[in-house]
Amino acid sequence: GGEFQLYHYEDLIQAKYLPLMFEPKEFFSSIKNLQYKKGDIFVCAYPKSGNHWFSNIINHMLSTKDLDEIEFINVPLLETPIMKTLQERPSPRLFVSHLPDSRLPRLHFENGGKIILILRNPKDVVVSYWYHLSKDRHLGCSLSWSGFLEHFMKGNVLFGSYFDYLKKWQRLIQDQKYSSILYVYYEDLKERPLEELQKVQKFLGTDGTTHRLNQIITKCSFNNLKSNVDSGRLRTTLVDENKQPFVYRKGEIGDWMNHFTVLQNKQFDELLDRELKDSIFKFRYRP
Ligand code: A3P
Repeated sequence: GGEFQLYHYEDLIQAKYLPLMFEPKEFFSSIKNLQYKKGDIFVCAYPKSGNHWFSNIINHMLSTKDLDEIEFINVPLLETPIMKTLQERPSPRLFVSHLPDSRLPRLHFENGGKIILILRNPKDVVVSYWYHLSKDRHLGCSLSWSGFLEHFMKGNVLFGSYFDYLKKWQRLIQDQKYSSILYVYYEDLKERPLEELQKVQKFLGTDGTTHRLNQIITKCSFNNLKSNVDSGRLRTTLVDENKQPFVYRKGEIGDWMNHFTVLQNKQFDELLDRELKDSIFKFRYRP
């Protein structure tokens, strides 16, 4: 039990070279029909946008325990088989997903459930994603940096195009069909965490003091998470321990500058111009 199996799942994965650990088709409908419980919160993010960091922050914010007593968590993705058992957790339940809104539980939307969208600039996302996929035993990507970048630019990666993902959320936000949604930028969380957490707090209706929020920020700092997070069962099945860690790898803004060549950057900027032309999301690429 508990072992992941590999499936090709064409809906999520356009890239044929990457197998995926999802269950067959019915699994999507079981996600779509997930029951709603009052207080459910979804953290949504394209891969590598900081969901492990952020879900730990939220988990601390939701708790009234002494901060020392709260353990670090590794919330599995909604779209993994393990999620079935996690549905039984007490409220408020925290879910993390890389799926677009159309794939998320219908009842969450119908009940006005809260959604926090984490956004990170695409250049740092692609770098982080490349490291992730090259370290991941099951997803095992043997592409060079330049090869991976090309696939990413075409949306030919696990979970598809980041730009499509952004456009889908933009549509939901712009159509004003849904108001229980807050988006925060990785870069802002990194550079002015208190301000961002105050926004989040207002959105969630939690009531930690400034002092407590600051303590949460410190406790969930990159270095602290990196040295304290138990790699856990989920991770050990997935990660080749002999390789570099990828969930807490570097945690900085602008690491893309160490990877993009001048030409790659030019081509990527052209793509950004096209894809984000009408975007409501404004990214920062440098600290
Ligand atoms: P890098 O690969 O650039 O280091 P996710 O959790 O969505 O998979 O995202 C992982 C990315 O978030 C990694 O980016 C990781 O280092 C970064 N990250 C994790 N914890 C962080 C923290 N406390 N502060 C800043 N970045 C963090």
